[in-house]
Amino acid sequence: MSSYLLLATLLVAAVHCLDNGEGLMPPLGFNTWNHFYCNINEKVIRQAADAIINLGLKRAGYNYVNIDDCWMGKERNDKGELVPDATRFPHGIKALAEYVHSKGLKLGIYSSAGTKTCQGLPASLGHEVIDAKIWASWGVDYLKYDNCNHDSQSGPVRYAKMRDALNSTGRHIYYSICSWGEEEVWKWANKVGNSWRTTGDIEDKFNSMRTIYQRNAKLYSYAARGGWNDPDMLEVGNGGMPVAAYRTHFALWSMAKSPMLIGCDLTKVPRDSLEILLNKDIIALNQDKVGKQARCILNCADSDFSKDSTHPQFTVVELENSNYAVAVTNWNDNTAFKDMVVSFAALNLPLKSYKVRDLWLHKDMGPVSDTFTVPTVGVHDTAVYKLTKA
Ligand code: GAL
Repeated sequence: MSSYLLLATLLVAAVHCLDNGEGLMPPLGFNTWNHFYCNINEKVIRQAADAIINLGLKRAGYNYVNIDDCWMGKERNDKGELVPDATRFPHGIKALAEYVHSKGLKLGIYSSAGTKTCQGLPASLGHEVIDAKIWASWGVDYLKYDNCNHDSQSGPVRYAKMRDALNSTGRHIYYSICSWGEEEVWKWANKVGNSWRTTGDIEDKFNSMRTIYQRNAKLYSYAARGGWNDPDMLEVGNGGMPVAAYRTHFALWSMAKSPMLIGCDLTKVPRDSLEILLNKDIIALNQDKVGKQARCILNCADSDFSKDSTHPQFTVVELENSNYAVAVTNWNDNTAFKDMVVSFAALNLPLKSYKVRDLWLHKDMGPVSDTFTVPTVGVHDTAVYKLTKA
């Protein structure tokens, strides 16, 4: 290849890669949508930022404060720029970003790769460059880019336009694609965004959480550092599921290397939910540098991984230093599973002995050889263990 041709090839590759240095680990933070929907304003955002500090969530690793749909006014200004809704955000987004940054946190914003957002407000298709520029000038650190009201251009084309616009601002902006799993997004999005929604919207109900988990779980091979499958935001704390189901939701999202965006009202988060959200041992599984998504190993039942509710389901992920995490999920609606004996070999683990730690009870079970016993997993609950070399 001539050197000119080589240079041209490298330039084209550079332009068409994401390579924004973001998302080396899944983002941790808060988003307004699952609790507030369109009922947002600058006070809600400031209070969320304050709560992230005061409740110890920042210390646990959460650092994004993300505004979802409904922040923008009904019309662009004379220069064609998006403007914040003057009633909800009278001091503008820049001032809000400054407030959030002053707490050592980052600010996220939302738009759609269509002519209007899902709530019918102005969106960014055809305005990518001007919108990316204004967000960068406000100090925005994260963009969630939705899929409502688009034209006939394909997802890969529409989402790449915003990737290039964000890159050209020179600001580091995490790019979250929200195309609900359409056009098999996981097959092309790692060159476009830092994460991609693999499913429709989650609801604060066990069946919704389970269905979404199943769809996302089988896509494990597509997740890696810099680009993650996104089975949607957390419902923990919103009150629609028993605490056992919230433990399952949190543990499996963490091990799936999903973005972990809290979706409840942090000014009123119940104590048992806060305890889940603050579980640093489980958050560490999400932030582990190997960056692999967990995969079902035992009692997976069929190719979509979760239909087996008559046996405990074992999901395994490799961690740094050849350690592992094992989740044991009870999808059964009525029966607790008790005293389950499982061999390391059945979980495809390479060693015969491990030290086993229960990450909900924060309790070491000591070095264990060949098999270990899971004492009990209640209805819809998930036990989580970290296995380190004995
Ligand atoms: C949906 C999206 C939700 C939320 C909503 C806002 O398309 O999946 O997470 O952003 O739009 O209107």
